[in-house]
Amino acid sequence: MAEEGSFLADALFFTVNGKKYCIENPGSLTLLKYLREHLGLMGTKNGCSQGHCGTCTVIVDGKAKRACLLKVQKLKDSSIETIENLSKDGKLHPIQEAFIKEGAVQCGFCTPGMVMAAKALLDVNTCPTEEEIKDALKFNICRCTGYAAIIRAVNRAARVMRGEEPVSGDPYETGIGQSPIKKDAREKVTGKPIFADDLQMQGMLYGKLLLSTHPFARIKWIDISQGEVRPGVVKILTARDIPGRNAFGLLTPHQPVLAGDVVRYMGDPVAVVFAESEEMAEAALKYIKVEYEPLKGIFAPEDGMARGAHLIHESGNSNLVHHVPVRRGNVEKAFAEADVIIEGIYSTPMVEHAYLEPESALARVDDEGVINVWTASQGSFAFREMIAASLDIPEEQVRVIYTPAGGAFGGKEEPTVQIHCALGAKVTGRPVKMTLTRQESLIMSTKRHWERMYYRHGATKDGRITAVEARVLVDAGAYDSLSKPVVFRSAVVAAGPYDIPNVHIDSYGIYTNHPPGGAFRGFGSTQVAFGAEQQVDRIARALNMDPFEIRRINGLREGKATITGQVLKKDAGYLETLEEVEKALAAYKKNLPKASPGKKIGIGVASSYKNVGLGAGKKDRAGAEIELSSEGIVYLKVGATDMGQGSDTALAQIAAEATGIHYDDFVVVSNDTAQSPDGGVTTASRQTYISGHAVLGAAKKYLEVFNKFLLEECGIEAGDYEMAPGGIKLTAKGQGQFISFQELGERAAKRQFRLQAEYLYVAPTTYPLRERADHEQGVPLEKYDIHFAYCFNTQAAVVEVDENTGEVKVLKVIAAQDLGRAIHPQNSRCQIEGAIVMGIGYGLSEEFKLEDGRMITDNLAKLRLPKITQVPQMETILVEQLSDGPFGAKGMGEVPINSTAPAVISAIYDAVGVRIADLPATREKVLAALKAKQGK
Ligand code: FES
Repeated sequence: MAEEGSFLADALFFTVNGKKYCIENPGSLTLLKYLREHLGLMGTKNGCSQGHCGTCTVIVDGKAKRACLLKVQKLKDSSIETIENLSKDGKLHPIQEAFIKEGAVQCGFCTPGMVMAAKALLDVNTCPTEEEIKDALKFNICRCTGYAAIIRAVNRAARVMRGEEPVSGDPYETGIGQSPIKKDAREKVTGKPIFADDLQMQGMLYGKLLLSTHPFARIKWIDISQGEVRPGVVKILTARDIPGRNAFGLLTPHQPVLAGDVVRYMGDPVAVVFAESEEMAEAALKYIKVEYEPLKGIFAPEDGMARGAHLIHESGNSNLVHHVPVRRGNVEKAFAEADVIIEGIYSTPMVEHAYLEPESALARVDDEGVINVWTASQGSFAFREMIAASLDIPEEQVRVIYTPAGGAFGGKEEPTVQIHCALGAKVTGRPVKMTLTRQESLIMSTKRHWERMYYRHGATKDGRITAVEARVLVDAGAYDSLSKPVVFRSAVVAAGPYDIPNVHIDSYGIYTNHPPGGAFRGFGSTQVAFGAEQQVDRIARALNMDPFEIRRINGLREGKATITGQVLKKDAGYLETLEEVEKALAAYKKNLPKASPGKKIGIGVASSYKNVGLGAGKKDRAGAEIELSSEGIVYLKVGATDMGQGSDTALAQIAAEATGIHYDDFVVVSNDTAQSPDGGVTTASRQTYISGHAVLGAAKKYLEVFNKFLLEECGIEAGDYEMAPGGIKLTAKGQGQFISFQELGERAAKRQFRLQAEYLYVAPTTYPLRERADHEQGVPLEKYDIHFAYCFNTQAAVVEVDENTGEVKVLKVIAAQDLGRAIHPQNSRCQIEGAIVMGIGYGLSEEFKLEDGRMITDNLAKLRLPKITQVPQMETILVEQLSDGPFGAKGMGEVPINSTAPAVISAIYDAVGVRIADLPATREKVLAALKAKQGK
């Protein structure tokens, strides 16, 4: 490769961002690899290397192209434009500005590709219709936004490019309830190298894992000798080389870092190779010989529970991971007295998170001997503990530095490559990078648990649901991961957001030889929301009752108890969500699309609820720190992980509101074990509430320290100044004199005065689930509080079903979300939109499929993730029922996904009279059900 001026014989010329390059014999080199590895243009992201995600979209000769599919040798005389070419001298392109303003940037991993696809369109058509926008972006997946904000952004950019709007909009407000520009949006729209795989280091090695070739087998021997002598190979490690605990897991550390005796699923690694290049590491894998003795695998929870089933973990007595019973009232009596009894069996599939950024880590041992690990995780402190334990070194010798997560949704709570990477750096003494291919990511990573639910509901004819009996089977996969709390969640919210006096629920998690079930947005509440809401829809139909009315009759509200006996407080906004959706649906019905021949329109309603915080008696705490550095930078240090959901932004807004320091002055440092306090894992919709409270506490203390400094060192009374952008403005005495933070920081440093404060917030006490939820005499009511807050959601879905093909089109979703105070309303709405589209995928198409433990859906395309062309009209309504959280906020990242699939499935029933009980309701299943109904 050479730049312009080096004229080689037979050279291939092309331009990249206006600069001419030539290359000789590029062989099979792809444009993506060339841009990232040869030119260092890291803005073009690699989500799959197979052309399925669009994160690598660039413009070639005026057309949007996926760089991973293009061979450089086909690019003779081409003109290539990448995201790096869009902003000039710090001035963003209108498309980039529009993406920021419309909140179209969440994790940001899809963003450069989306922006380039949009540019290719708007370069030739500044008046696109919505259909043309969708068509232009149809090869680009976004897992976070639900696409709606992206469509709005492209429309806004088009208006700007047509000259109808100024490039920069109005200055934005930053207070609580306003929607300032997100802290990380500018970096993300410009494709800055911020993700772990973008990072490069001198002398870096690459690591590759050898994964099991059997779902369940004993390892007889491993021979690495032929691999060790392959070109470029520096080291190969197996289980015996793990110096410390050869096991990890957030709650139950029993998943092997490298399997040594038994493999329990196809994602178990048995060896790791470190080599001079990724290709060399990859090539060496096939020279590692492993002899397995295959064992009879278990591929269904029912088989795992069967008498005499082979034990997946020989140390246990059975394959049962966890059993959670919920008991309340007298179910037998209630069923005997019920006017209507509805029974149903429902199942929900195993689902892949499909975050667009594959797992990646870079590790290096620094001069002090500390192993620095740059990676995207939902809890750096938890990762630090697991790395230190496996390497058998003190935690202080490990630093985990958060790099932005290109999506996570719960899937980055457990390590994948981080422990191997840290071990590689320690053993070789060189920096090591490991990035999973999409295929490796798919088989290794945790999944949403498959569940089967057996429900029986009893109700009286006036619509009162009096009894619920449920048995829930949960496929935990090969290792515990977070199955225990998921099984718990599937039990405690199994009846939906209703006050039901008689309950008998059992939820069981069972080991299988599948990928471990882990955390995934909704965390066990999503699965049971489907089953429970189908039951409620069926009861309403059996009683000829309106779907809103039956929910209103039974709905949880202040003073009512959940099925676990917890009496709700004033912040329970369920009925308000119901009311808002009912109103909005009534308005929409006036213009309901007409059914065309062969196509039927249907409407479905569903509700759900979920906890905020860990609950069940677990310690739930987070720290926060505010510091003015000697350089005058105001740092907000938090342990929360911003994986696109906007926690950095919301926490900075809270800090700004509480201190008066301008929002733009805060630099947020999150989730760095050497810099920020521990905030716990970003899970259970907890960070706005818990880290938000920690920020409030730190802000109060910081103001005390700051005022003390001003008084003692500068003679400024607390009442004689106000905060101003970049510093303070003197009021009474100074007649408007401005003193910058830089000056104050320098003054403080000179006087050795530390302008810093930190605070540890401990969440309200919660209690373990009681054996029975009936309020016992002498037991204080708060002992039934398994959580300190809940958030509620209601949705209505309008679908069109093609009776001839079984195809379902979701036309409209109306969603109302109870979230307490919306700190950043735009972000809250975009989160809801993203969850709805993810919920449509869950309801209609997505499934991670295995056959006898072997992966069938081995690429992103086979997962059938929703595309921009499937986005319905979405109407989002925020219900701000204030809580005890910071400024009244609760949390809401998860629950909006729960109501979508049940609403869509009930809408299908409403349209054509068939109810699909096992998700996803694919076109084939709907068609088969229609044929069965017609007796064909
Ligand atoms: Fe699109 Fe995350 S913002 S994938």
